[in-house]
Amino acid sequence: MITHLAPLTSRLVTLARLSSLALLGEVRVILMHIDSETPSLATFAQELRSDFCKERPAVAAEIELAGHDEASHARFGKTWFEHLVPEKANRKVAVERALLLRGVLMLTAFSHYHDTPLLEMMTRFSAPDAPPAAAEPS
Ligand SMILES: [Fe+2]
Repeated sequence: MITHLAPLTSRLVTLARLSSLALLGEVRVILMHIDSETPSLATFAQELRSDFCKERPAVAAEIELAGHDEASHARFGKTWFEHLVPEKANRKVAVERALLLRGVLMLTAFSHYHDTPLLEMMTRFSAPDAPPAAAEPS
């Protein structure tokens, strides 16, 4: 195994041991609601202040509606996350752990879609100038 993947692999093994539906739900809530929808609210507000939207009220109305929709999702996610992880300090750790997993989770989808082993995908995309993974001894 390529040495620069060892720390990540070690963390993944730890996470695999901790795996449960609650952990998967927690990661989903963090990546979808806390790290995606919540920051998007500022983007919607910024778009609504743009000249583009000021000149196109119909588009602005749709963006405003989408912003309200995403705000409700973000509130739901925050409530659910606080339910899953009641302690604030633990939520900080959970967010760090989920963000660490984001790339790996995305690669699992690519791995499946491209019918390519996950380790090969991780090796290919972990460092652009990394040498190809050595074949495992059989
Ligand atoms: Fe949403």
